[in-house]
Amino acid sequence: MSDRYCVIGNPIAHSKSPQIHAAYALQTGQDLAYERCLAPLDGFEATVRRLVAEGYRGANVTLPFKLEAARLATRLAPRARAAGAVNTLIFADGEIVGDNTDGPGLVADIVRNAGVPLGGKRILLLGAGGAARGALLPLLEEHPRQIVIANRTLATAEKLVADFADHADRLAVTGFADVEGSFDVVVNATSASLAADVPPVPPAVFGPGVLALDMMYGAQPTVFMAFAASHGASVRDGLGMLVEQAAEAFLLWRGVRPDTAPVMASMRQS
Ligand code: ATR
Repeated sequence: MSDRYCVIGNPIAHSKSPQIHAAYALQTGQDLAYERCLAPLDGFEATVRRLVAEGYRGANVTLPFKLEAARLATRLAPRARAAGAVNTLIFADGEIVGDNTDGPGLVADIVRNAGVPLGGKRILLLGAGGAARGALLPLLEEHPRQIVIANRTLATAEKLVADFADHADRLAVTGFADVEGSFDVVVNATSASLAADVPPVPPAVFGPGVLALDMMYGAQPTVFMAFAASHGASVRDGLGMLVEQAAEAFLLWRGVRPDTAPVMASMRQS
């Protein structure tokens, strides 16, 4: 029987992960099955226990269970501990190992796919929730000159920076309207695009030569992307990050890194 994996969430019907992992399995010749798994809102732990009992080898975790997955894991990878969130579970040797490939996926999409190295750069990170927290350590590991974190609720951004005290010299916090200076990369890690909102940063933030990436994606460019592009920035949505975080999870499970380019191209078409 094929090794079994799934993505656990609620809702889950929209998830593109089965399509991505099926493509990776085909490409690398790995014998695995990957499906969607709807967990009741109060039944994440029971769902994971069932999967383990049924012999599943691992799972991805999506909204709203990423924090609960971090609490449930018997062991956490350092980047998952830093994120306080888990998007990848590995079931092996009686352990539930929690990792987080969202931030590495973001970095891979910026550095490899967009061709923008982050060493010495100035990054503006919009948002201070789970998505921003997950991105912070992988971004810092690229040795940017500075990461400015802007959030609607200042106290949340201050708490985030306090949790990364070892890197305080390269982190700063501000409100959206008070963002100053120029940036090489702007990452929208808020969920504002879901409400068709744009974080109200000064438009001058988005000049030519700036890469503006929204972690959200959809059939059309997000309002954030449209706003950034109208002020001269190059824009990307979160599809590349999605495909890259899946590749990183696939590598953790199978020991093989798939080629993301053809999968990205076919996802974009569909
Ligand atoms: P996620 O896991 O997607 O990061 P989250 O932890 O709920 O979700 O965080 C959502 C982030 O989007 C937060 O930074 C939130 O700002 P607050 O800390 O002020 O709540 C931000 N956010 C959500 N809606 C927003 C909006 N309409 N405009 C600007 N920021 C928004």
